[in-house]
Amino acid sequence: MKFIVVENYEELSRKASNIICAQVVNKPNCILGLATGSSPLGTYANMIQNCKNGDVDFSGVTSVNLDEYVGLDITNDQSYRYFMNTNLFESINIDINNTHVPNGCADDLAEEGEKYDALIEALGGIDLQLLGIGLDGHIGFNEPDDVFVGPTHMVDLDESTIKANARFFESEADVPRKAITMGMKSIMQAKKVLLIANGKNKEEIVNKAFFGPITPKVPASILQLHPDLTVIYSKN
Ligand code: GLP
Repeated sequence: MKFIVVENYEELSRKASNIICAQVVNKPNCILGLATGSSPLGTYANMIQNCKNGDVDFSGVTSVNLDEYVGLDITNDQSYRYFMNTNLFESINIDINNTHVPNGCADDLAEEGEKYDALIEALGGIDLQLLGIGLDGHIGFNEPDDVFVGPTHMVDLDESTIKANARFFESEADVPRKAITMGMKSIMQAKKVLLIANGKNKEEIVNKAFFGPITPKVPASILQLHPDLTVIYSKN
């Protein structure tokens, strides 16, 4: 594991974007695993800038996102599909048809999970997976559990996650209680994993996840077993 501590969010965002852009330059038709939440916003802003400057070309890239709320469709501005379109995809030259987010409105979510895993497999797996981390140690929406869950699956969100994500909604009551998330299999099989975390409030969970025991009670701790993991942390 490479654990990089940086001065501030700007530096974190620049470094993370550089790692992702280097991946695209090295393999223009790569498969990027992408994440939502507030942490990647600066990274995406840097990627957009690099694309506008002509330094990186996303036209051959395919993306697979980690997760989606159950019941929110593309028109809902809190859906992760909407987030990705507005914060990244519409501002870079990726082909929108090659961007994938699990469908949280599918009639059969178990089947949607199977289809999503089959898609990732058919693409040949993920070259680089970007992750944030929740205050309870979740990655994607893999919440603390008794076991690490492998496949893409539906989850009940933890109270702490609902509270943490309420800042994006009008009220806590509006936060969906369920989500569909890529499981640990596709994440751990990604060739490279890049996790970004910022803020004093993430310090404790980052320490637990990367310097504590590996346990499904701290889902991100499984990443300690990944052969090519980079963590970038900024206290500010
Ligand atoms: C959400 C997402 C995660 C994200 C986490 C942290 O729950 N499903 O992928 O990592 O929030 O969000 P933030 O970066 O806003 O702290």
